Amino acid sequence: MYVELKNVVKTYDAYPAADHIDLAIEEGRLVALLGPSGSGKTTILRMIAGLEHQDSGDIVIDGRIVNDVPGSQRGIGFVFQNYALFKYMTVYDNIAFGLEIQKRDKQYIQQRVEELLSLTNLEGLGKRYPNQLSGGQRQRVAFARAIAPSPRLLLLDEPFAAIDAKVRKDLRAWLRHTISRLGVTSIFVTHDQEEAIEVADEIVVTNKGRIEQVGTPVEICMNPKTPFVAQFIGRGTIVSNIRAFSGFAHAPVGHAVVQPEFVHVFSCGEASGQKKELLNPGVVQEVSFRGALYELRIAACGETLNAFRSFEAPPLSPGDSVQFYISRAQGMEGEATLPLNNDRFV
Ligand SMILES: Nc1ncnc2c1ncn2[C@@H]1O[C@H](COP(=O)(O)OP(=O)(O)OP(=O)(O)O)[C@@H](O)[C@H]1O
Ligand SMILES: [Mg+2]
Repeated sequence: MYVELKNVVKTYDAYPAADHIDLAIEEGRLVALLGPSGSGKTTILRMIAGLEHQDSGDIVIDGRIVNDVPGSQRGIGFVFQNYALFKYMTVYDNIAFGLEIQKRDKQYIQQRVEELLSLTNLEGLGKRYPNQLSGGQRQRVAFARAIAPSPRLLLLDEPFAAIDAKVRKDLRAWLRHTISRLGVTSIFVTHDQEEAIEVADEIVVTNKGRIEQVGTPVEICMNPKTPFVAQFIGRGTIVSNIRAFSGFAHAPVGHAVVQPEFVHVFSCGEASGQKKELLNPGVVQEVSFRGALYELRIAACGETLNAFRSFEAPPLSPGDSVQFYISRAQGMEGEATLPLNNDRFV
């Protein structure tokens, strides 16, 4: 394991911002820390960076306990949320900053900065100042500055938070591609699940200073291990009695989260023959257009469910009667979850 946190605790005025954290990250992975505001993501990142000191527990980087190693000697590059570029320095000097501190010779620095300007698609902008750049360009300068000294570990705290939606999407793809090309172990913080799912090899879900689940994006979406994750991921709805729906009469628990991906909706008469015995009647309550699809709220069996529907299918409106079936759900029992499959599919 390249980075390890072992039983790490950090409290602020008796509030546990990191509550017995155990985490292991393999070399070369791109890992997202995902969780709601205040769940301890930044605290974990800052402790790894040596910007904050844990109360107890060990932090290990590349096999060495770094508890007493100052941040500047941990071989880490850090990208902060709001660029944090040096305003009075050019792009070139910002990127060269860490190399100057390392006292590299001028020729090496020039070559390295040119290489990074090219890597970050900023060729020709070396002489500009940060206020002469767009938000996306500034964040790429921050990235170039962080990786200039060839860190062993790259930490990024909400690197795209201040950037508008379209640029943010492009930057995500760029970051994923660039990091995999560099092969540097990276941990980035986000509270945006879509971002974590698209970018990360592995997601660490945080909640109230604890880790709820670690897994690939597919594992987290398909098999959320705790009620918190089941509710936090996706756009699922909670039902109090899944047994009321066709195909779930034998479910061992009633309380469940149903994700809209697993609710299949048909307008009356639209369902094909073999599915008929699976169908539940429902009534559309709300319809919202989400770009590539419609999101529906459907009232059925005394509950309300979210569902998706292709925007190529015949449109539905509030008040319309529909039929639907649920293919799977995530049952919740105390602190655990269990996958529930529709009987008719097993
Ligand atoms: N310097 C501090 N002094 C006191 N409490 C702090 C300090 N830093 C963080 N906290 C508290 O620790 C908890 C975790 O904070 P942290 O910044 O790690 O959350 P986060 O998951 O990064 O949230 P966000 O998504 O809002 O950035 C919060 O309740 C916060 O109020
Ligand atoms: Mg934070």
